[in-house]
Amino acid sequence: MDDTLHLHEKVKELLYSFTGITLTENKDIMISNRLHKLKRNASFHGSLDDLLEAIKEGNYKTEFINAFTTNKTHFFREEFHFADLKNRVLPELLKHNQDVKLYCSASSTGEEPYSMAMTILETQEELGKKINATIIATDIDTNVLQYAANGIYRFSKSSKEFPSWLKPQKYFKKRVEKNLASEEILIKVKPELQKMVTFQVMNLNDANYPFAKNQFDVVFCRNVLIYFSAIDQEKILFRLFRHLKIGGTLYIGHSESPGKLEAYVRRIGQNIFIKEKEVS
Ligand SMILES: C[S@@+](CC[C@H](N)C(=O)[O-])C[C@H]1O[C@@H](n2cnc3c(N)ncnc32)[C@H](O)[C@@H]1O
Repeated sequence: MDDTLHLHEKVKELLYSFTGITLTENKDIMISNRLHKLKRNASFHGSLDDLLEAIKEGNYKTEFINAFTTNKTHFFREEFHFADLKNRVLPELLKHNQDVKLYCSASSTGEEPYSMAMTILETQEELGKKINATIIATDIDTNVLQYAANGIYRFSKSSKEFPSWLKPQKYFKKRVEKNLASEEILIKVKPELQKMVTFQVMNLNDANYPFAKNQFDVVFCRNVLIYFSAIDQEKILFRLFRHLKIGGTLYIGHSESPGKLEAYVRRIGQNIFIKEKEVS
């Protein structure tokens, strides 16, 4: 086997064993770039093969995982899910005066759980009713979790990330920084939003999740299943599903599918599912 191919196979094996992520074909350039960057950042002086051996023995494991996750996200991505949360899920839950528990299972740099939190505060204002909401947000990548907890975001002034029904100025404070380009702003999430979200590290590939059965009213599992094989996607979805209440809502990403979970849910919108039955 040629050297590069051998190295890339090793990366794929290690990444799969640590995270469950399956790197598909045509990822050679990405693997090379990330591997070289990892070596530089770790100031590792041996060969790439030595580095992979060290990782296999448990050194640089976190750095390796962080290097090979893809963290693309933005505020109110697939906005219709947040509109559904505001217009259907929260008003319905409030009829029963419940505390609301939400889970964001691949939160990346935090834009998704903070979008959930903003949606809750908007709904609360609109309905004139207090919502006792807790949002748990997890990811396997410790760098993005740190970024999310800091809650500082760089924006282009012309950004159209926020929906028309929300004024972002309510939830962010502008920060001054010398090195900003003229079309950029730096914003920090206000404490009121920050305290609604708890960030913690978690691997979706673990056999068990640290949550109670039927704990959540809402589960977001968006744009993460695509990194797993079909078999592993199914395992993750079924595992997550146990923690969703009957009648609770599951949101998955636009290019993801519920697979065999379809038998236990009712589809009510674009990748929006209501849990109807318990899985065995
Ligand atoms: C493309 S981002 C999606 C972020 C957000 N959910 C969205 O839809 O915009 C995928 C995230 O999944 C995380 N991830 C990948 N494998 C994971 C695993 N095994 N356990 C937990 N998170 C994982 C990555 O670190 C990354 O932050």
